[in-house]
Amino acid sequence: MTDRRNFLKSSSLLLGGLWLSPGIAVARTKISPSDQLRVALIGCRNMGFGILRHHLALPEVRCVALCDVDQNVLDEKLKEVETATGTRPEGFNDFRKVLERKDIDAVIIGTPDHWHCLIAVAACQAGKDVYVEKPMANSIGECDLIASAAKRYDRVVQVGQQQRSGQAFIESKDLVKSGHLGKIRKVNIWSNFNYGLGNEKQSNAAIPAGVDYDFWLGPAPLRDFNPNRFHGSWRHFWDYGGGLMSDWGVHLLDMAVWAEENPSAPSRVLTYARNVNTENRDRDTFDTMNVLFPKKDFLINYDMNGGLQTGPYGKPYGIAYVGDKGTLVVNRSGYEVYPEWSDSPKSPKCEAKKLEGTKESHNLHVANFVDCIKTRNQTVCPPEAGRIAALHAHIPNIAARVGAEELIWDDSKREFVGNKAANALVWPDYRKPWTLPKV
Ligand SMILES: NC(=O)c1ccc[n+]([C@@H]2O[C@H](COP(=O)([O-])OP(=O)(O)OC[C@H]3O[C@@H](n4cnc5c(N)ncnc54)[C@H](O)[C@@H]3O)[C@@H](O)[C@H]2O)c1
Repeated sequence: MTDRRNFLKSSSLLLGGLWLSPGIAVARTKISPSDQLRVALIGCRNMGFGILRHHLALPEVRCVALCDVDQNVLDEKLKEVETATGTRPEGFNDFRKVLERKDIDAVIIGTPDHWHCLIAVAACQAGKDVYVEKPMANSIGECDLIASAAKRYDRVVQVGQQQRSGQAFIESKDLVKSGHLGKIRKVNIWSNFNYGLGNEKQSNAAIPAGVDYDFWLGPAPLRDFNPNRFHGSWRHFWDYGGGLMSDWGVHLLDMAVWAEENPSAPSRVLTYARNVNTENRDRDTFDTMNVLFPKKDFLINYDMNGGLQTGPYGKPYGIAYVGDKGTLVVNRSGYEVYPEWSDSPKSPKCEAKKLEGTKESHNLHVANFVDCIKTRNQTVCPPEAGRIAALHAHIPNIAARVGAEELIWDDSKREFVGNKAANALVWPDYRKPWTLPKV
Protein backbone atom coordinates (compact mmCIF):
# COMPACT_ATOMS: atom_id res chain seq x y z
CA MET A 1 0.00 0.00 0.00
CA THR A 2 2.77 2.45 0.96
CA ASP A 3 4.71 1.71 -2.21
CA ARG A 4 1.60 2.14 -4.28
CA ARG A 5 0.80 5.43 -2.56
CA ASN A 6 4.35 6.67 -3.19
CA PHE A 7 4.01 5.76 -6.83
CA LEU A 8 0.66 7.51 -7.01
CA LYS A 9 2.13 10.65 -5.48
CA SER A 10 4.63 10.87 -8.29
CA SER A 11 2.30 9.95 -11.13
CA SER A 12 0.43 12.68 -12.96
CA LEU A 13 -3.25 13.11 -13.71
CA LEU A 14 -2.86 12.67 -17.44
CA LEU A 15 -6.21 12.83 -19.12
CA GLY A 16 -4.93 12.05 -22.62
CA GLY A 17 -5.03 8.66 -24.25
CA LEU A 18 -8.66 7.94 -23.52
CA TRP A 19 -10.61 5.38 -25.43
CA LEU A 20 -14.34 5.36 -25.50
CA SER A 21 -16.55 2.38 -24.82
CA PRO A 22 -20.31 2.58 -24.49
CA GLY A 23 -20.82 5.09 -21.71
CA ILE A 24 -17.42 4.83 -20.04
CA ALA A 25 -14.21 6.65 -20.94
CA VAL A 26 -11.27 4.65 -19.67
CA ALA A 27 -7.71 5.87 -19.54
CA ARG A 28 -5.33 3.70 -21.59
CA THR A 29 -1.92 3.74 -19.94
CA LYS A 30 0.99 1.53 -19.08
CA ILE A 31 0.56 1.85 -15.29
CA SER A 32 0.96 -1.60 -13.82
CA PRO A 33 -2.05 -2.95 -11.89
CA SER A 34 -0.09 -3.09 -8.63
CA ASP A 35 0.59 0.63 -8.85
CA GLN A 36 -2.97 1.65 -9.50
CA LEU A 37 -5.37 3.18 -7.04
CA ARG A 38 -8.04 0.59 -6.33
CA VAL A 39 -11.56 1.83 -5.84
CA ALA A 40 -14.88 0.17 -5.05
CA LEU A 41 -18.33 1.57 -5.72
CA ILE A 42 -21.11 0.98 -3.19
CA GLY A 43 -24.56 1.86 -4.58
CA CYS A 44 -24.23 1.53 -8.35
CA ARG A 45 -27.44 2.57 -10.08
CA ASN A 46 -27.29 6.23 -11.04
CA MET A 47 -25.03 8.88 -9.54
CA GLY A 48 -22.61 6.43 -8.00
CA PHE A 49 -21.90 4.92 -11.40
CA GLY A 50 -21.50 8.37 -12.92
CA ILE A 51 -18.86 9.15 -10.30
CA LEU A 52 -17.15 5.81 -10.96
CA ARG A 53 -17.01 6.69 -14.68
CA HIS A 54 -15.03 9.82 -13.84
CA HIS A 55 -12.64 7.77 -11.70
CA LEU A 56 -12.10 5.34 -14.56
CA ALA A 57 -11.20 8.20 -16.90
CA LEU A 58 -8.08 8.74 -14.75
CA PRO A 59 -5.11 6.58 -15.70
CA GLU A 60 -4.15 5.59 -12.17
CA VAL A 61 -7.59 4.35 -11.11
CA ARG A 62 -8.83 0.80 -11.33
CA CYS A 63 -12.24 -0.43 -10.19
CA VAL A 64 -11.89 -3.71 -8.31
CA ALA A 65 -15.31 -4.08 -6.69
CA LEU A 66 -18.94 -3.09 -7.11
CA CYS A 67 -21.58 -3.51 -4.44
CA ASP A 68 -25.35 -3.18 -4.67
CA VAL A 69 -28.29 -4.72 -2.82
CA ASP A 70 -30.14 -4.97 -6.14
CA GLN A 71 -28.59 -7.89 -8.04
CA ASN A 72 -30.09 -6.61 -11.30
CA VAL A 73 -28.25 -3.30 -10.99
CA LEU A 74 -25.10 -5.08 -9.87
CA ASP A 75 -25.06 -7.51 -12.82
CA GLU A 76 -25.65 -4.71 -15.33
CA LYS A 77 -22.89 -2.51 -13.92
CA LEU A 78 -20.38 -5.36 -13.53
CA LYS A 79 -20.87 -6.09 -17.21
CA GLU A 80 -20.51 -2.43 -18.14
CA VAL A 81 -17.20 -2.08 -16.30
CA GLU A 82 -15.94 -5.38 -17.72
CA THR A 83 -16.79 -4.31 -21.27
CA ALA A 84 -15.08 -0.96 -20.80
CA THR A 85 -11.95 -2.03 -18.94
CA GLY A 86 -11.51 -5.67 -19.88
CA THR A 87 -11.60 -6.71 -16.23
CA ARG A 88 -14.65 -7.74 -14.26
CA PRO A 89 -14.67 -6.26 -10.74
CA GLU A 90 -15.71 -8.50 -7.85
CA GLY A 91 -19.44 -8.17 -7.14
CA PHE A 92 -20.85 -7.80 -3.62
CA ASN A 93 -24.25 -7.34 -2.01
CA ASP A 94 -22.91 -6.52 1.45
CA PHE A 95 -20.67 -3.45 1.78
CA ARG A 96 -19.02 -4.91 4.89
CA LYS A 97 -17.46 -7.62 2.73
CA VAL A 98 -16.10 -4.95 0.36
CA LEU A 99 -14.45 -3.20 3.27
CA GLU A 100 -12.75 -6.45 4.33
CA ARG A 101 -10.69 -6.38 1.12
CA LYS A 102 -7.34 -4.99 2.24
CA ASP A 103 -6.25 -3.98 -1.28
CA ILE A 104 -9.01 -1.38 -1.72
CA ASP A 105 -7.78 2.21 -1.27
CA ALA A 106 -11.00 4.16 -1.65
CA VAL A 107 -14.75 3.71 -1.81
CA ILE A 108 -17.39 5.75 -3.62
CA ILE A 109 -20.74 5.85 -1.81
CA GLY A 110 -23.66 6.25 -4.22
CA THR A 111 -26.44 4.82 -2.05
CA PRO A 112 -29.54 6.76 -0.96
CA ASP A 113 -28.78 9.27 1.80
CA HIS A 114 -30.00 7.13 4.74
CA TRP A 115 -27.03 4.80 4.18
CA HIS A 116 -24.25 7.37 3.86
CA CYS A 117 -23.29 7.51 7.53
CA LEU A 118 -23.07 3.79 8.27
CA ILE A 119 -21.05 3.05 5.15
CA ALA A 120 -18.78 6.12 5.34
CA VAL A 121 -17.90 5.55 8.99
CA ALA A 122 -17.25 1.83 8.41
CA ALA A 123 -15.08 2.70 5.41
CA CYS A 124 -13.01 5.17 7.45
CA GLN A 125 -12.62 2.55 10.17
CA ALA A 126 -11.43 0.06 7.55
CA GLY A 127 -8.76 2.54 6.41
CA LYS A 128 -10.39 3.53 3.11
CA ASP A 129 -10.60 7.04 1.70
CA VAL A 130 -14.16 8.05 0.89
CA TYR A 131 -16.07 9.88 -1.84
CA VAL A 132 -19.54 10.24 -0.35
CA GLU A 133 -22.36 11.72 -2.37
CA LYS A 134 -24.27 14.75 -1.13
CA PRO A 135 -25.98 15.46 1.18
CA MET A 136 -23.22 14.16 3.41
CA ALA A 137 -25.80 12.31 5.54
CA ASN A 138 -29.55 12.22 6.07
CA SER A 139 -29.46 13.86 9.51
CA ILE A 140 -27.48 16.49 11.40
CA GLY A 141 -26.11 13.95 13.89
CA GLU A 142 -24.89 11.52 11.23
CA CYS A 143 -22.88 14.30 9.53
CA ASP A 144 -20.94 14.68 12.78
CA LEU A 145 -20.20 10.97 12.92
CA ILE A 146 -18.69 10.99 9.42
CA ALA A 147 -16.63 14.09 10.23
CA SER A 148 -15.36 12.50 13.48
CA ALA A 149 -14.51 9.23 11.74
CA ALA A 150 -12.59 11.01 8.97
CA LYS A 151 -10.58 12.85 11.61
CA ARG A 152 -9.99 9.92 13.94
CA TYR A 153 -8.90 7.53 11.20
CA ASP A 154 -7.09 10.22 9.21
CA ARG A 155 -9.01 9.63 5.98
CA VAL A 156 -9.37 11.74 2.88
CA VAL A 157 -13.07 12.45 2.38
CA GLN A 158 -14.65 14.25 -0.56
CA VAL A 159 -18.34 15.13 -0.22
CA GLY A 160 -20.07 15.16 -3.62
CA GLN A 161 -20.77 18.91 -3.67
CA GLN A 162 -19.19 19.10 -7.11
CA GLN A 163 -20.15 22.72 -7.81
CA ARG A 164 -17.09 23.62 -5.69
CA SER A 165 -15.00 22.28 -8.57
CA GLY A 166 -16.98 24.11 -11.28
CA GLN A 167 -15.35 27.00 -13.14
CA ALA A 168 -18.46 29.21 -13.06
CA PHE A 169 -18.74 28.89 -9.28
CA ILE A 170 -15.00 29.26 -8.62
CA GLU A 171 -14.87 32.46 -10.66
CA SER A 172 -18.05 33.71 -8.99
CA LYS A 173 -16.60 33.11 -5.55
CA ASP A 174 -13.44 34.99 -6.55
CA LEU A 175 -15.50 37.92 -7.83
CA VAL A 176 -17.57 38.02 -4.63
CA LYS A 177 -14.48 37.83 -2.41
CA SER A 178 -12.51 40.37 -4.48
CA GLY A 179 -15.13 43.03 -3.78
CA HIS A 180 -16.08 43.35 -7.47
CA LEU A 181 -19.78 43.42 -6.51
CA GLY A 182 -19.22 45.75 -3.56
CA LYS A 183 -20.71 44.81 -0.22
CA ILE A 184 -22.89 41.72 -0.53
CA ARG A 185 -26.27 42.29 1.07
CA LYS A 186 -28.20 39.22 -0.09
CA VAL A 187 -27.65 35.87 -1.73
CA ASN A 188 -30.88 34.92 -3.49
CA ILE A 189 -31.21 31.26 -4.43
CA TRP A 190 -33.97 29.61 -6.43
CA SER A 191 -34.53 25.98 -7.20
CA ASN A 192 -37.51 24.99 -9.36
CA PHE A 193 -37.91 21.49 -10.74
CA ASN A 194 -40.90 19.39 -11.79
CA TYR A 195 -39.44 16.24 -10.26
CA GLY A 196 -39.77 17.85 -6.81
CA LEU A 197 -43.40 16.67 -6.79
CA GLY A 198 -42.44 12.99 -6.71
CA ASN A 199 -44.09 10.22 -8.75
CA GLU A 200 -47.79 9.63 -9.22
CA LYS A 201 -49.21 7.57 -6.38
CA GLN A 202 -49.19 3.82 -6.94
CA SER A 203 -50.06 0.72 -4.94
CA ASN A 204 -47.65 -1.33 -2.89
CA ALA A 205 -46.18 -4.16 -4.93
CA ALA A 206 -44.19 -7.37 -4.64
CA ILE A 207 -40.50 -6.88 -3.97
CA PRO A 208 -38.74 -7.17 -7.35
CA ALA A 209 -36.74 -10.37 -7.89
CA GLY A 210 -33.07 -9.90 -7.09
CA VAL A 211 -33.65 -7.06 -4.62
CA ASP A 212 -32.66 -7.43 -0.97
CA TYR A 213 -35.28 -4.92 0.18
CA ASP A 214 -34.55 -5.40 3.88
CA PHE A 215 -30.91 -4.47 3.22
CA TRP A 216 -31.98 -1.54 1.01
CA LEU A 217 -34.05 -0.22 3.95
CA GLY A 218 -31.19 -0.93 6.36
CA PRO A 219 -31.52 1.45 9.33
CA ALA A 220 -34.78 2.96 7.97
CA PRO A 221 -38.20 1.82 9.25
CA LEU A 222 -39.63 -1.41 7.86
CA ARG A 223 -42.39 -0.76 5.30
CA ASP A 224 -44.20 -2.65 2.60
CA PHE A 225 -42.53 -2.28 -0.77
CA ASN A 226 -43.75 0.58 -2.93
CA PRO A 227 -41.87 1.48 -6.14
CA ASN A 228 -42.18 5.17 -5.28
CA ARG A 229 -40.14 4.69 -2.14
CA PHE A 230 -37.38 2.88 -4.01
CA HIS A 231 -34.85 3.56 -6.79
CA GLY A 232 -34.59 7.23 -7.68
CA SER A 233 -37.79 8.49 -6.04
CA TRP A 234 -36.77 7.56 -2.44
CA ARG A 235 -35.51 11.16 -2.14
CA HIS A 236 -39.09 12.44 -1.55
CA PHE A 237 -39.47 10.52 1.74
CA TRP A 238 -37.98 11.55 5.10
CA ASP A 239 -36.85 8.00 5.92
CA TYR A 240 -34.29 8.12 3.10
CA GLY A 241 -33.83 11.73 1.94
CA GLY A 242 -34.96 15.34 2.23
CA GLY A 243 -36.76 16.20 -1.02
CA LEU A 244 -35.76 19.03 -3.32
CA MET A 245 -34.35 20.86 -0.29
CA SER A 246 -31.55 18.37 0.31
CA ASP A 247 -31.29 17.26 -3.32
CA TRP A 248 -30.77 20.67 -4.94
CA GLY A 249 -30.91 23.08 -2.03
CA VAL A 250 -27.78 21.58 -0.52
CA HIS A 251 -25.79 22.29 -3.72
CA LEU A 252 -26.93 25.89 -4.02
CA LEU A 253 -26.74 26.74 -0.34
CA ASP A 254 -23.22 25.32 -0.32
CA MET A 255 -22.28 28.01 -2.84
CA ALA A 256 -23.78 30.74 -0.67
CA VAL A 257 -21.78 29.75 2.42
CA TRP A 258 -18.67 29.02 0.36
CA ALA A 259 -18.47 32.71 -0.47
CA GLU A 260 -18.71 33.66 3.22
CA GLU A 261 -15.61 34.95 4.99
CA ASN A 262 -15.86 32.21 7.62
CA PRO A 263 -18.40 29.60 6.47
CA SER A 264 -20.55 28.57 9.38
CA ALA A 265 -23.58 26.48 10.25
CA PRO A 266 -26.88 28.38 10.26
CA SER A 267 -27.80 29.93 13.60
CA ARG A 268 -31.26 31.42 12.98
CA VAL A 269 -33.51 29.97 10.28
CA LEU A 270 -36.92 31.28 9.20
CA THR A 271 -38.92 28.77 7.18
CA TYR A 272 -42.15 28.80 5.21
CA ALA A 273 -43.06 25.37 3.85
CA ARG A 274 -46.24 24.07 2.25
CA ASN A 275 -47.54 21.45 -0.11
CA VAL A 276 -49.62 23.51 -2.53
CA ASN A 277 -49.62 21.38 -5.67
CA THR A 278 -52.78 19.28 -5.96
CA GLU A 279 -51.54 16.62 -8.39
CA ASN A 280 -51.84 13.01 -7.23
CA ARG A 281 -48.19 12.65 -6.24
CA ASP A 282 -46.44 10.57 -3.63
CA ARG A 283 -44.07 12.33 -1.22
CA ASP A 284 -43.51 13.28 2.41
CA THR A 285 -41.40 16.30 1.53
CA PHE A 286 -42.59 19.83 0.66
CA ASP A 287 -43.11 21.25 -2.82
CA THR A 288 -42.91 24.90 -1.74
CA MET A 289 -40.30 26.29 0.64
CA ASN A 290 -38.93 29.73 1.33
CA VAL A 291 -36.15 29.99 3.85
CA LEU A 292 -34.26 32.97 5.26
CA PHE A 293 -30.81 32.42 6.77
CA PRO A 294 -29.69 35.70 8.35
CA LYS A 295 -25.87 35.70 8.40
CA LYS A 296 -23.60 38.18 10.17
CA ASP A 297 -23.29 40.57 7.23
CA PHE A 298 -25.87 39.42 4.70
CA LEU A 299 -29.01 37.39 4.13
CA ILE A 300 -29.40 34.08 2.31
CA ASN A 301 -32.85 33.92 0.75
CA TYR A 302 -33.83 30.47 -0.56
CA ASP A 303 -36.88 30.03 -2.80
CA MET A 304 -37.92 26.49 -3.88
CA ASN A 305 -40.81 25.29 -6.04
CA GLY A 306 -41.33 21.64 -6.90
CA GLY A 307 -43.56 21.42 -9.99
CA LEU A 308 -42.40 24.72 -11.53
CA GLN A 309 -39.48 25.09 -13.90
CA THR A 310 -39.23 28.77 -14.67
CA GLY A 311 -37.39 31.20 -12.47
CA PRO A 312 -35.60 34.55 -12.27
CA TYR A 313 -33.27 35.48 -15.17
CA GLY A 314 -34.98 32.76 -17.25
CA LYS A 315 -33.27 30.00 -15.27
CA PRO A 316 -34.94 27.13 -13.38
CA TYR A 317 -32.28 27.32 -10.71
CA GLY A 318 -29.55 29.74 -9.82
CA ILE A 319 -27.83 31.97 -7.33
CA ALA A 320 -27.78 35.77 -7.36
CA TYR A 321 -25.12 37.43 -5.22
CA VAL A 322 -26.58 40.90 -4.72
CA GLY A 323 -23.97 43.57 -4.01
CA ASP A 324 -23.96 47.35 -3.80
CA LYS A 325 -22.06 47.59 -7.09
CA GLY A 326 -23.65 44.74 -9.00
CA THR A 327 -25.43 41.39 -8.98
CA LEU A 328 -23.79 38.20 -10.14
CA VAL A 329 -26.11 35.43 -11.36
CA VAL A 330 -24.61 31.96 -11.65
CA ASN A 331 -25.59 28.39 -12.33
CA ARG A 332 -23.79 25.35 -13.78
CA SER A 333 -23.93 26.85 -17.29
CA GLY A 334 -22.09 30.07 -16.48
CA TYR A 335 -22.48 33.46 -14.85
CA GLU A 336 -23.23 37.07 -15.64
CA VAL A 337 -22.53 40.25 -13.69
CA TYR A 338 -25.27 42.91 -13.91
CA PRO A 339 -23.73 46.21 -12.79
CA GLU A 340 -25.57 48.72 -10.62
CA TRP A 341 -25.34 52.26 -11.95
CA SER A 342 -24.98 55.83 -10.70
CA ASP A 343 -27.68 58.23 -11.86
CA SER A 344 -25.97 61.40 -13.07
CA PRO A 345 -24.04 60.96 -15.12
CA LYS A 346 -25.34 57.42 -15.67
CA SER A 347 -22.37 55.08 -15.23
CA PRO A 348 -21.90 51.46 -14.16
CA LYS A 349 -20.60 50.83 -10.64
CA CYS A 350 -18.68 47.72 -11.69
CA GLU A 351 -17.53 46.01 -14.88
CA ALA A 352 -20.06 43.73 -16.58
CA LYS A 353 -18.72 40.20 -16.97
CA LYS A 354 -20.02 37.02 -18.49
CA LEU A 355 -18.98 33.36 -18.71
CA GLU A 356 -21.04 30.96 -20.83
CA GLY A 357 -21.02 27.29 -21.75
CA THR A 358 -19.60 25.80 -18.56
CA LYS A 359 -20.52 22.20 -17.83
CA GLU A 360 -20.99 19.77 -14.95
CA SER A 361 -17.87 19.46 -12.81
CA HIS A 362 -18.08 15.93 -11.41
CA ASN A 363 -14.91 15.02 -13.35
CA LEU A 364 -12.91 17.83 -11.73
CA HIS A 365 -14.31 16.99 -8.29
CA VAL A 366 -13.24 13.37 -8.75
CA ALA A 367 -9.80 14.46 -9.99
CA ASN A 368 -9.42 16.56 -6.84
CA PHE A 369 -10.35 13.53 -4.70
CA VAL A 370 -7.83 11.28 -6.44
CA ASP A 371 -5.16 13.95 -6.18
CA CYS A 372 -5.83 14.35 -2.45
CA ILE A 373 -5.61 10.58 -1.94
CA LYS A 374 -2.07 10.85 -3.26
CA THR A 375 -1.01 14.06 -1.52
CA ARG A 376 -3.09 13.58 1.67
CA ASN A 377 -4.19 17.21 1.27
CA GLN A 378 -7.69 18.35 2.17
CA THR A 379 -10.29 17.95 -0.58
CA VAL A 380 -12.30 20.90 -1.91
CA CYS A 381 -15.30 19.59 0.02
CA PRO A 382 -13.94 18.10 3.26
CA PRO A 383 -16.31 16.77 5.96
CA GLU A 384 -16.77 20.06 7.82
CA ALA A 385 -17.80 21.83 4.61
CA GLY A 386 -20.14 18.96 3.75
CA ARG A 387 -21.62 19.15 7.24
CA ILE A 388 -22.24 22.91 7.02
CA ALA A 389 -23.90 22.54 3.60
CA ALA A 390 -26.07 19.66 4.83
CA LEU A 391 -27.21 21.63 7.88
CA HIS A 392 -28.48 24.41 5.62
CA ALA A 393 -30.84 21.82 4.11
CA HIS A 394 -31.66 19.73 7.18
CA ILE A 395 -32.56 22.62 9.51
CA PRO A 396 -35.30 24.09 7.25
CA ASN A 397 -36.64 20.58 6.67
CA ILE A 398 -36.79 20.00 10.42
CA ALA A 399 -38.48 23.40 10.87
CA ALA A 400 -41.05 22.45 8.24
CA ARG A 401 -41.70 19.05 9.80
CA VAL A 402 -42.27 20.40 13.30
CA GLY A 403 -44.13 23.51 12.11
CA ALA A 404 -41.58 25.98 13.49
CA GLU A 405 -41.43 29.22 11.52
CA GLU A 406 -38.25 30.13 13.40
CA LEU A 407 -35.54 27.80 14.67
CA ILE A 408 -32.41 28.79 16.56
CA TRP A 409 -29.52 26.33 16.18
CA ASP A 410 -26.67 26.28 18.70
CA ASP A 411 -23.91 24.67 16.70
CA SER A 412 -21.51 24.48 19.67
CA LYS A 413 -24.02 22.37 21.60
CA ARG A 414 -25.39 20.69 18.47
CA GLU A 415 -28.97 21.43 19.54
CA PHE A 416 -31.94 23.67 18.81
CA VAL A 417 -32.71 26.26 21.44
CA GLY A 418 -36.07 25.66 23.11
CA ASN A 419 -37.60 23.26 20.61
CA LYS A 420 -37.92 19.68 21.84
CA ALA A 421 -39.65 18.42 18.70
CA ALA A 422 -36.86 19.78 16.49
CA ASN A 423 -34.18 18.31 18.76
CA ALA A 424 -35.86 14.90 18.40
CA LEU A 425 -34.99 15.03 14.68
CA VAL A 426 -31.28 15.79 15.08
CA TRP A 427 -30.57 12.04 15.22
CA PRO A 428 -32.42 9.26 13.37
CA ASP A 429 -33.83 6.17 15.11
CA TYR A 430 -32.07 3.23 13.50
CA ARG A 431 -33.99 0.03 12.93
CA LYS A 432 -32.33 -2.96 14.54
CA PRO A 433 -29.97 -4.70 14.05
CA TRP A 434 -28.43 -1.46 12.72
CA THR A 435 -27.13 0.95 15.34
CA LEU A 436 -25.54 4.37 15.03
CA PRO A 437 -21.81 3.81 14.61
CA LYS A 438 -19.52 4.60 17.52
CA VAL A 439 -16.52 6.70 16.58
N1 LIG B 1 -23.90 15.30 -6.82
C1 LIG B 1 -24.99 15.26 -7.57
O1 LIG B 1 -25.21 16.10 -8.43
C2 LIG B 1 -25.97 14.15 -7.35
C3 LIG B 1 -26.96 13.88 -8.32
C4 LIG B 1 -27.84 12.81 -8.09
C5 LIG B 1 -27.75 12.07 -6.92
N2 LIG B 1 -26.81 12.38 -6.00
C6 LIG B 1 -26.70 11.59 -4.75
O2 LIG B 1 -26.24 10.28 -5.08
C7 LIG B 1 -26.80 9.33 -4.18
C8 LIG B 1 -27.51 8.24 -4.98
O3 LIG B 1 -28.59 8.82 -5.68
P1 LIG B 1 -29.17 8.09 -6.98
O4 LIG B 1 -30.04 9.06 -7.65
O5 LIG B 1 -28.04 7.49 -7.73
O6 LIG B 1 -30.03 6.92 -6.30
P2 LIG B 1 -30.51 5.54 -6.98
O7 LIG B 1 -31.72 5.10 -6.22
O8 LIG B 1 -30.65 5.70 -8.44
O9 LIG B 1 -29.30 4.54 -6.73
C9 LIG B 1 -28.94 4.11 -5.45
C10 LIG B 1 -28.33 2.72 -5.55
O10 LIG B 1 -27.87 2.34 -4.24
C11 LIG B 1 -28.24 0.97 -4.02
N3 LIG B 1 -28.23 0.70 -2.57
C12 LIG B 1 -29.14 1.06 -1.65
N4 LIG B 1 -28.73 0.66 -0.42
C13 LIG B 1 -27.54 0.03 -0.59
C14 LIG B 1 -26.61 -0.59 0.29
N5 LIG B 1 -26.81 -0.66 1.60
N6 LIG B 1 -25.49 -1.14 -0.24
C15 LIG B 1 -25.26 -1.12 -1.58
N7 LIG B 1 -26.11 -0.53 -2.47
C16 LIG B 1 -27.22 0.05 -1.97
C17 LIG B 1 -29.58 0.84 -4.69
O11 LIG B 1 -29.95 -0.49 -4.91
C18 LIG B 1 -29.35 1.64 -5.97
O12 LIG B 1 -28.77 0.82 -6.96
C19 LIG B 1 -27.71 10.11 -3.25
O13 LIG B 1 -27.03 10.42 -2.07
C20 LIG B 1 -28.02 11.38 -4.03
O14 LIG B 1 -28.34 12.48 -3.22
C21 LIG B 1 -25.91 13.38 -6.21
